[in-house]
Order: sequence, then C-alpha cells, then structure tokens
Amino acid sequence: MDSYPAISDLEKRARKRIPSFAWVYLSSGTGDDIARDHNQDELRKVRFRPQFLKGLLNPDLETTLLGTTYSAPIGIAPVGLTGLIWPTADAALASTAASRRIPYVLSTVGTVEPEVAGPNAEGMGWFQLYPPRDPEMRSDMIGRAADSGFTTLVVTADIPAPSRRERQRKAQIRVPPVIGPRLIANAAMRPAWSREVLRTGLPRFRGLEKYIDSESLKALAGFVGASLGGTLSWDYLAEVRSMWDGPLVVKGILDPDDAHRCVEAGADAVWVSNHGGRQLDGAIASITALPEIAERIGGSVPVIFDSGIRDGLDVARAMALGADFCFAGRPFMFGLGALGTAGPNHVVDILTEGLVATMHQVGVERLADLSSRLA
Ligand code: FNR
Repeated sequence: MDSYPAISDLEKRARKRIPSFAWVYLSSGTGDDIARDHNQDELRKVRFRPQFLKGLLNPDLETTLLGTTYSAPIGIAPVGLTGLIWPTADAALASTAASRRIPYVLSTVGTVEPEVAGPNAEGMGWFQLYPPRDPEMRSDMIGRAADSGFTTLVVTADIPAPSRRERQRKAQIRVPPVIGPRLIANAAMRPAWSREVLRTGLPRFRGLEKYIDSESLKALAGFVGASLGGTLSWDYLAEVRSMWDGPLVVKGILDPDDAHRCVEAGADAVWVSNHGGRQLDGAIASITALPEIAERIGGSVPVIFDSGIRDGLDVARAMALGADFCFAGRPFMFGLGALGTAGPNHVVDILTEGLVATMHQVGVERLADLSSRLA
C-alpha cells in the first residue's frame, strides 16, 4: 500500500477506475463546490504548537462513545447509493468496521438491506434515517434497524429539501442509474468496475424496495425524493426519540441553538456536519461551526464531526476544537474506487497512522490533550 500513502492518492486512482457519472456523484458538492472545498481549507488553518523531550510516548486512540468502545475516534459516515461507486461497497464497509472496531453508518438510501448490513457489522453498525413521511414506513424502518443489530440511530437533519447539485444535473445522473448507451459506453472504459457490476448486478436501494409496489427503478427514484425529504421538525424528532430505545444522534447541525435544542429533545449526541458541502454552497465550514457548538453543549452530550477530513492530522484538528469523534464520507469511497474491497481498511490505516503520528509530533498521549497543543 506504499503507492497510496495519502487519501489524495486514493482519490486520484479512484477517479480513473470508476465511471465518470459515479465520480461526479461522489465528488461533487453543490453549486460551484465552494462549501466542499471550504471544509478542507478551513481545517488546514488549524495549527498546533509541538512540545518535545517527553521520552517515549504511547498515543492511545481507543474511544468510548455512546456505550461502545471503538479502536479509534474515526467512523464511516453514511453514503447513499454506495453500490454505484463500487459494487461491493456495502459488504466491504461493514466488514472493515467489524474487523477494525470502528462505527459504520448505513444510509437509508444505501444499496444493501439493513438485515444484511447489521449482522455483517458485528455490533459496529449505526443506522441513518432520512425521515420518512409515512408513519408506518417510519416505524417499520426503525424496527428493522433495531432488529438488525444497529446500536445507534442517526437522524439526518440537513435535507429540508433536495439540493440542486448542478454538476450532477449536467452529467445527467439519475439515481438510480438508467441503463442506456451513455452508461454502457462510460462503464466500458472502466473494466474493473464493470466486472464487479456484472458479477453482482446493478445497484438498488434494497432497504427501501419493500415500501413500493413497482419494481421499476424509476418509480423508486421518484419515491425516494417524494417520501423522505422535508419532513423533519422538532415534533417529528420527539416522535422518533420515543420510538428508539438506543442512542439517538442528530446529524447535520451547524447552529449552536439547534444543537442545544437537539439535546433538550433527547438526542444523545450532536453531529456537526455540512453534508460534505453537498447541500448549501454558502454554508459555513463544518470546522468553523464546531467550537461554538462544543462550547454551547458544554460536554452534556458528545459532539461528532465530519466534512473535509482527509488525514489523521485533520482528525486531530477536529478533536482539538471540541469533537469527541470524527467520521469521513468520501475518503472511504475513494478507497473503494481505488483498491476495491481492500480500500476501506487502507483508509483506516491512513487515518489512524496519521493521528498517531500527529500525537507524537505535538507531544500528547491522550486525545483529550490535543486541545492543549493548539497554536
Ligand atoms: C453523503 N452524505 C450522506 N449523509 C447522510 O446522512 N445520508 C446519506 O445518504 C448521505 N449520502 C452521501 C452520499 C455521498 C456520495 C457523499 C459524498 C456524502 C454525507 C456524509 O455522510 C458526510 O456527511 C460527508 O460525506 C462528510 O464529508 P466528507 O468526509 O465527504 O468530506
């Protein structure tokens, strides 16, 4: 794996190995991708002042969050239509989570049934809910997540309406994909991806199929848009809270008042995120929102962070500014695109090794001490 020591190396290789429509779906933000790029630019501004002469340090990454002990404060963020990016993505992500003891969040619009992903993740699985409009569907999905062994429910708050995603429109991406000459021509240039699709079939929103009558993918695409968006309110969140016994996390929070209200509504953690810059091109960077939210919540519940993490150093930066745990979305998908099923494991290596290296360099053994080394 020495040829791909950084996430950016995986990103470059993935771009060459997956079809261009899948690449646009994965890489794009919204608008001009300003919010997406801003996430990384602002993270990189966070700097440390190293301290030395401390002898042999033994950095400890183990982190307990919401009742489970993980090997590092790093998790796999929910990504929809995973199977479009790499056909066996879902199985690889769940098994990496299980073997590395890190959390893996299955998206409502993932391409595997929760009944399959939950057991594969061996207690490391969380389930992400895009709030369904239909109450029966909602209770059924929450019940399936519980029955499938997911420990934690993540309600995503930052999709009040679909975002415009202009690059995806120009590339005529349909979710799920429509098989036509363009797709076939495109896929023909990506033999490794196409071989996997031939072996495993085209990606489907398998977890949602039981809720619609039609087998048609087109109907399903319309169904997803019409049934899952613009539903969430404080009352709705309270209802979900009463239906789920385990830890509940609200994802996509950028405002300290929202964060505070989530805690009042019974959330067990708040997840600071701007959805990797995919919703509002004028949104503040996730790392900019983090310190104010951490301060407002004042340790009453853990603060989770994502958007822009590309290295263990970025994890250290977010932890120093108040995060208790970090997740990455695109990096795991870059790993899959570049290296197939071996990719996610390599991404965990890159992020954890980078975090350990950072802790040695700044001179701390405990994650909680990173903030003391901020410049
Ligand atoms: C996402 N994200 C996302 N979030 C969510 O709650 N449910 C989902 O189905 C998806 N789907 C999705 C698809 C793709 C292709 C991407 C890139 C992202 C957002 C994701 O969980 C996470 O917040 C961001 O990916 C974090 O930013 P980075 O790590 O990609 O920079």
